[in-house]
Amino acid sequence: MDIRLLHPSDIPHVQQTNITNLPENYFCKYYLYHALSWPQLSYVAVDVSRPKKTPYDAPKIVGYVLAKMEEDPADGIQHGHITSLSVMRTHRRLGLAEKLMRQSQKAMYETYNGVYVSLHVRVSNVAALALYKDTLGFKVIGTEAKYYADGEDAFSMRMDLEHLK
Ligand code: ACO
Repeated sequence: MDIRLLHPSDIPHVQQTNITNLPENYFCKYYLYHALSWPQLSYVAVDVSRPKKTPYDAPKIVGYVLAKMEEDPADGIQHGHITSLSVMRTHRRLGLAEKLMRQSQKAMYETYNGVYVSLHVRVSNVAALALYKDTLGFKVIGTEAKYYADGEDAFSMRMDLEHLK
């Protein structure tokens, strides 16, 4: 498995992965906005074990992290934000999400002097909460009522990036 930066040409495949794994979906231009504005922050996991039949074969994207820097932070502190993360069911529990997140966080800190990284997650999302809290060290800083379109609440989470010094 190869973890590499997201290229604009990956976007249709990342979009497909997103639609398969999450109800929060985005227009192509929103992915492009991330890739062009903060080209160091979004990564894909590619299954390189599948042989390419022609040079034009699409890459097999099995996971991605889509991330950005907050453009006008309300608290005045430079920080990153995880817009979306997912890994295909067939490739879960292999450490891919952890690697994608760590790569993005490193770039937030090193390239953009990000002080912390934030995200939202459904209160019922046991797998993602375990990844964020137990594996990566995020803390819950609040709950946002009815954050999602279906009315579910979100935990607002945050992790300092200072430890990357
Ligand atoms: N149950 C409990 N803990 C879990 C689970 C699970 N199903 N999955 C991961 N974890 C925790 C474990 O501590 C795991 O370490 P371990 O395997 O050594 O026990 C650790 O997270 C790291 O797991 P990874 O293998 O890196 O995680 P994976 O690649 O499987 O991806 C993810 C986790 C992204 C949550 C995946 O299950 C997924 O795509 N789910 C659907 C989409 C989703 O919920 N995305 C997050 C939405 S929030 C947002 O996008 C900001």
